[in-house]
Amino acid sequence: KFMGELMGLNVLEEQLKGKLHVKKVLIIPGNSDENDWVKREMGKACVTFLQSIMKEKMIIAVTGGTTMAAVANAMTPLNKSKDYLFLPARGAIGEKAENQSNRIVTEMAERANGEYRLLYVPDPLSETAYQTLLTEPSIQDVLQQIKSADVVIHGIGDAITMANRRKTSEEIMTKLQSNSAVSEAFGYYFDEFGNIIHKVRTLGIQLEDLNSMDHVLAVAGGKSKAKAIVSYFKQGKSDLLITDEAAAKQILRG
Ligand code: F6P
Repeated sequence: KFMGELMGLNVLEEQLKGKLHVKKVLIIPGNSDENDWVKREMGKACVTFLQSIMKEKMIIAVTGGTTMAAVANAMTPLNKSKDYLFLPARGAIGEKAENQSNRIVTEMAERANGEYRLLYVPDPLSETAYQTLLTEPSIQDVLQQIKSADVVIHGIGDAITMANRRKTSEEIMTKLQSNSAVSEAFGYYFDEFGNIIHKVRTLGIQLEDLNSMDHVLAVAGGKSKAKAIVSYFKQGKSDLLITDEAAAKQILRG
């Protein structure tokens, strides 16, 4: 029975690759909306995949959220040299302290015995502060490294769930609702066709930077994220999706 289930997931992975136009898909059994261990297993799968692609001196940029926190939790040393650097992909975008990319990057580096650097950017960030920070040499230095990342690992969220979780103003909330925002990743909000509806102002990776990166890994599961995952992949250029069975089945039904 177990083998049968595994083969079933392989079939789902193939179908999902076709549907989302993504190079590689890994599906974990279960539904992470309902069971925390499913998210932990997605985290482990992500670390195992990282081990398979790791080369010396790699730079890994990471976003925030509970799924990325699960990846951090599962982190182990990635190769013998231990010579790699973890960085936040973007400045803080309204997450609780434990789910912020700075915190996640620190934990990943500690568990992997790697290095890390942080991006200290106020959240939310005004236009003037943004322009000033861009000229700050120490920030420019980290930004340079972020843009040259070899690996990016990121979460995907449901747009309205994420907007509620963040301190999103009423004005932006209305903008998201009236434009039917469906998904969120990297601080970008997308509609069902993948059009960008809104972008949170912060420093770090921009969507177009993903095109030049070798490995962009998305980790997102749970039946509730099915629409968001489809919407993100209309625009997002991630190479790998690690998801769960419940999200996969819901996506394929839709
Ligand atoms: O806020 C950071 C972030 O990676 C978002 O871009 C994404 O929508 C969200 O977290 C995913 O959060 P979670 O893994 O908790 O669902």
